[in-house]
Amino acid sequence: MSRALRAFAALVATGALALVPLTRPAAADPGEPWRDPGKPAPARADALLAVLTQDEKLAAAVGDLAPLARHGVPLLNSKDGPSGIGLPGTTAFPSSQALAATFDTGDATAVGAAIARELRGKGRNVWLGPAVDIARTPLAGRQPENLGEDPYLAGELAAAESAAAKAEHVIVTAKHYTGNNQEYYRTGVITPAGRTGGINTVVSERALKEIYERPFTPIVTRGGADAVMCSYNQVNGLQACQNKKLLDDLKKQFGGIVTPDFGQAVRDQAAAANAGVDLPQYDQGSGGRTKDIFTSGAVPQARLDDIVRRTLFAIFNSGVYDNPVGPGADVVSTPEHRELATKVATDSTVLLKNRARTLPLDHPRSIAVIGPSGSDALYTNGGSAAVPTTVGGDVTPLAGIRARAGVTVTAAQGSAGDVPAVTPIPGDVLTTTDSSGARVAGVTATYWNNPDFTGNPALTRTDASPGVNGTPAGVTSPYSARWTGTLTPPETGLYRITMLGRGIASLYLGGKRIATGYREGASFLAGPQYPIQGTIRLTAGKPIDLRVDYAANLGRPGLSLAWQTPSQTQIPAAVEAARTADVAVVFANSAAGEGMDHSSLSLQGDQNELIEAVAKVNRRTVVVLNTGGPVLMPWLDKVDAVIQAWYPGQQFGTALAAVLFGDTDPGGRLPVTFPATDGQGPAAAGGARTYPGVIDSTTNAQSYAEGIYVGYRWYDKTGQKPLFPFGHGLSYSTFRYDSDVSGSFSDTTTALDAIAGQAKVNVTNTGPRAGSTTVQVYVGHLRTTVDTPARQLAGVATLRLKPGENRQISIPISTRSLSYFDEKHHAWRTPCGRVPIYIGSSSADTRLAGWITCKTR
Ligand code: BGC
Repeated sequence: MSRALRAFAALVATGALALVPLTRPAAADPGEPWRDPGKPAPARADALLAVLTQDEKLAAAVGDLAPLARHGVPLLNSKDGPSGIGLPGTTAFPSSQALAATFDTGDATAVGAAIARELRGKGRNVWLGPAVDIARTPLAGRQPENLGEDPYLAGELAAAESAAAKAEHVIVTAKHYTGNNQEYYRTGVITPAGRTGGINTVVSERALKEIYERPFTPIVTRGGADAVMCSYNQVNGLQACQNKKLLDDLKKQFGGIVTPDFGQAVRDQAAAANAGVDLPQYDQGSGGRTKDIFTSGAVPQARLDDIVRRTLFAIFNSGVYDNPVGPGADVVSTPEHRELATKVATDSTVLLKNRARTLPLDHPRSIAVIGPSGSDALYTNGGSAAVPTTVGGDVTPLAGIRARAGVTVTAAQGSAGDVPAVTPIPGDVLTTTDSSGARVAGVTATYWNNPDFTGNPALTRTDASPGVNGTPAGVTSPYSARWTGTLTPPETGLYRITMLGRGIASLYLGGKRIATGYREGASFLAGPQYPIQGTIRLTAGKPIDLRVDYAANLGRPGLSLAWQTPSQTQIPAAVEAARTADVAVVFANSAAGEGMDHSSLSLQGDQNELIEAVAKVNRRTVVVLNTGGPVLMPWLDKVDAVIQAWYPGQQFGTALAAVLFGDTDPGGRLPVTFPATDGQGPAAAGGARTYPGVIDSTTNAQSYAEGIYVGYRWYDKTGQKPLFPFGHGLSYSTFRYDSDVSGSFSDTTTALDAIAGQAKVNVTNTGPRAGSTTVQVYVGHLRTTVDTPARQLAGVATLRLKPGENRQISIPISTRSLSYFDEKHHAWRTPCGRVPIYIGSSSADTRLAGWITCKTR
């Protein structure tokens, strides 16, 4: 050691010199009270605001926090997302919808903490999560990123995640506020006159309060989130981020910031700032906001001060001021986090059907694993919430089953799943008539200089096949294109045809639409590709009319088609593998995520055909649905067991094998209703008006005509019988519930989130195995002439019990769960009288009933 270094070490040893990380704020100076971690966050924010110069305030208000570094204020660096940090070296946890299927705030707490630790480990201090956009339609592409259809469940789980993440000192950003329940038209479309507003969600005040805004309350109160992201869409005619009433209602509840979704959420910067948008964008971006909105007086000084105060408050209150992040490490995933990912995946696995105890597998002699079960299995959704896995690798289902089975496991692809086909449709199967009337190879392409296929075409020509890359010469964007011609199939059998691109595309064969979809890209940022698929049986040599319509109204146009011909099918080989195996485990998937919606709940491509074909030859067929949310199951009666695995994160294989072989009970329950048909559910009820909405020169809206009747509330009200109800999920064991659910409380409309009563339940595991049960408490019709739902989830408890074990639990019921929003007086009301309470294991199952009585004070 050199002399200088020895002297330095001696100073450190005597305490004369303290080693302080360079980025840490200096110790509190009485003249700089905001540096004192012992002072409350609001006082620190006020103290610092009082000494900032006008230039510093203006810089902060346009997202530039660098000038505030001299006061110890850190830069804010954000990262998505809800089920893991979207950077290499992190852990891919199960999707949020899977987390919701655990019904377990303990799991949510553990995941929130782990995600925040990995975020900080990566040198970031702002978490873009959790997401609580209510699952209004199962077609919504981002459904897997969110926490289901029930606002109570979503709010409780997100609040738990938020509180745990905040304890690790990050700014939690709950999203997307609000009425953001689909991808279709979310940022509007490009017309010749410019971009329209985001889809206008036309929704009642009551539905906003009881359904869409409701989860945000526990997140910003009990969960302590310091930020909320306002969404891309409009709400009742105003961009959500420019809707003062909407933002005021939220900001009354917490001292933190509102920040807009990245990109198209703000159309008028001054309007957004005046409505309540604080920080214009994270990561030192201005989001298009400039200082002149303040200097011109368009946004008053008081609001500028408020913006800066709230921003500082969030920085102090979250702990990111006192706990600066380091530069970030390559690898932040840990064995503990991966173990947690496995636990949450088993806790979220829903056993939908189990005929004659097919599962758990009991010493099968051989297993055929069929379908996309290798590296083509989907562990994460697409878009900003996708999580790359590079640490510990993702355990594929096939690898997980092989590692656990101890018997012969044969793998057969069977179907490529929900992926694009790879063979371009060859030009020699397409013919059309050219402008001279001659029959020629190819298709007739017609292009219009508008996205609506209207007026005189800008260009008509013969193209070799349908599809386009960019904007053809002589055409202006946004445009629409139509390709027509005759397809003469080279073979007889099932064809799978896929389209990949950006915009809205539909494929018609023989006048029948066989595929349609909205895509903001072939994939969006990261994760799986988003094909638009269709299947059709064709006869060799029998010509059929073909038409492809393409509206290139989302920017950067492009569309390509490909197909899988009958001779390319992999079903026969899979059937052979299934025929000789003791058990067939068939995987089916569905790609979903940001920037796309589904146009049907049907499994895409040839997956239904594969399942049917396997079930015909194997007497123990288990289907594993590797989908973000509900799908239709036309083969349900023909298979023996069905597992809903969601997007289960990188530990997919380990978790699934544990459930299949009974090492763990399947802990998941459905956080969304599974419809029996595409026509069921609230959003499907009114045609395009209720989903996906209508965008034309006069309308730009979708009606939430169902009001508060979302999810199971709708099924109860209309009597529609779903395929599987909300809350459903089987255990390998059986449970008995006994209870005492009577209670009384007084009229306490001022303390809506206070506990009004308890449902006491005695639960016994009556089966031969350890297992889990999710006790669900529903409140019935309230005592009022106002229409209220037949059942609303008001409390849950997940119990894991050994055989014979018995436990007594008390499930609290809040006053809010016994209240409705009175639109006439714009206030919550708690009607007095006896309210029925139902206890069961799904929204359609009542095992016990009782009353809770409200007495007027
Ligand atoms: C998404 C947000 C996300 C943001 C940043 C947006 O397109 O809607 O959820 O946090 O991108 O990645």
